[in-house]
Amino acid sequence: MVKRSRILGCGSYLPANIVTNDDLAKRVDTSDEWIVQRTGIRSRHLAAEGELTSDLALAAAVRALEHAGVEPGSIDCIVLATTTPDNTFPATATKVQAALGAKGFALDIQAVCSGFIYALSIADNFIRTGQAKRALVIGAETFSRLLDWSDRTTCVLFGDGAGAVVLEGYDGNGNAGDRGVLSAHLHSDGSQYDLLYVDGGVSATGTAGHVRMQGQEVFRHAVSKLSSVVEEALVANGLEPAAIDWLVPHQANQRIIDGIARKLKLSTDKVVLTVDRHGNTSAASIPLALSEAVHDGRIKRGDLILMEAIGGGLAWGSALVRW
Ligand code: UT7
Repeated sequence: MVKRSRILGCGSYLPANIVTNDDLAKRVDTSDEWIVQRTGIRSRHLAAEGELTSDLALAAAVRALEHAGVEPGSIDCIVLATTTPDNTFPATATKVQAALGAKGFALDIQAVCSGFIYALSIADNFIRTGQAKRALVIGAETFSRLLDWSDRTTCVLFGDGAGAVVLEGYDGNGNAGDRGVLSAHLHSDGSQYDLLYVDGGVSATGTAGHVRMQGQEVFRHAVSKLSSVVEEALVANGLEPAAIDWLVPHQANQRIIDGIARKLKLSTDKVVLTVDRHGNTSAASIPLALSEAVHDGRIKRGDLILMEAIGGGLAWGSALVRW
């Protein structure tokens, strides 16, 4: 027998305010046509003034707990992936813990757009080593607060939102037929730090800073690194691409997602896409997409889900999960 973490439920939350490409074209020199062609994005949700990452995270967490049918007081670990914490410290996860009345411990982790894969892996390891029994894994961002609204090369790409899953330990057989997190593969390459970063920070400038990105270079790395980390996940589990029921990718650019799906020979109806309506919500994008496909009935018990993401660091990773 092998300790595994299965997902009991999931939930998500999007701020009410929807901003279209045409809305953005009134602020910067861009067009709906350019944004749709290059990224697949048509609109994104932006948090209202005073609406914080913890508010989004809490709303998603409450929905995930309801879906899982478990009491908040039974959660003994919260791992919250975010690049946009409410405050520099304490961890935003502790605010969510208090609001829920959860027990145990709560921490934030920072892996930008790969944050959810990293958080899932961290929580899975807490469960597998017996340090936690029931964990809440959240990806939540108010990424709009990091944008330079005069920079058309970045401000059209991102959005705000949150998604969450509830994990619980159980004894599995140790093979790919088990439910839950089958594997996670994490990588980073700090020599590519400057390709995608924020030009501020507590230690560097005392300000939050704004997102700066060499888009084409990140795109190039995304295609090759995601292809190899997806391959790594399949090989580690002795699975062929044909075994995948759903690709739930990080939602940065439809062209990157299509490229990975083509490599896996997955038809488009096996790919969960939200980039058109959410834009890139960084650590929130995978749990938002997962939650949508679970709640609309596409993802069913026993389905094999492949998740992958890449972002600033560069940091990237994949996870295979059986629902
Ligand atoms: O989640 C984190 C990981 N991030 C990613 O995965 C992002 C990866 N990169 C990308 O998705 C793409 O590189 C972008 C969507 C960011 C950019 O698309 P691209 O096809 O690589 O465009 P480009 O940067 O090569 O720019 C092409 C042209 C440039 O004009 P010139 O120099 O050819 O005259 C840009 O100035 O498009 C121009 N441009 C725009 N035009 C209208 C750049 N941004 C815009 C814009 N509206 N918003």
